[in-house]
Amino acid sequence: MDELPVNTIEANRRMGHFEDRDRVWLFGYGSLIFKADFPYIAARPATIRGWVRRFWQGSHDHRGTPGAPGRVVTLIQQEGATCHGMAYLVTPEEFAHLDHREKNGYLRFATEMTFDDGTTAEGLVYIATDDNEAYLGDAPEAEMARQIANAAGPSGPNRDYLLMLAEALRNLGAQDAHVFGLERHLFDK
Ligand code: SIN
Repeated sequence: MDELPVNTIEANRRMGHFEDRDRVWLFGYGSLIFKADFPYIAARPATIRGWVRRFWQGSHDHRGTPGAPGRVVTLIQQEGATCHGMAYLVTPEEFAHLDHREKNGYLRFATEMTFDDGTTAEGLVYIATDDNEAYLGDAPEAEMARQIANAAGPSGPNRDYLLMLAEALRNLGAQDAHVFGLERHLFDK
C-alpha cells in the first residue's frame, strides 16, 4: 500500500495536553460529530469562537486514497466566527485511538468551548493546519463538490461524509453556508 503523505500520531503523542486530568473535553466539528466510535462519558452540543469549518483538508486514508484524495473538514481562523460542533467528555486513554483516527494531518490544540447553557470548558480539538502535506486549501465550490462526489476510501464514499455532516449540523440547528452549499452541488449533478 502507498504511504500516507503525512502521519501526525507521534507529534500528537508528544503534545500531551491535559494528561494530568482524568477527563478531557474533546470538541468535534467534522466526522467526530456524526461518527463517535469511542467511549465517552458525556456528549454536549458546543461552539468554539474564531474558527470556521472548511473542506480544505485532503483525505488519503478515510474518504479517498493517496492517488485520489477526498476532501474533509478542518478549521480555518476567522475573527468573530462561531463554529458549531459536539463536545465529548473522554478519558485521556481515548487519545491513542483518536490520534490514530486523525493521523492524516491533524494536530491536537487546546481550545475553550461554550456549551448550549452558556458554560465553558477548556479542551482539545484536532485541526489540520495549512502546513501539513495533505492540506489542499480552497477551490471553487463546484470543483470541491466534484472531487467529493468522485472520491472514496476505506471509510466509504466521500459524499457520505459530506451528507452525514450536513445532516448532523441540521440536527444541531447549526447554520453552515459552506457545508450546505457543497451539499447542494452534490444534487446538481
Ligand atoms: C473533527 O471531526 O473534529 C475532526 C475532523 C474529522 O475527523 O472529520
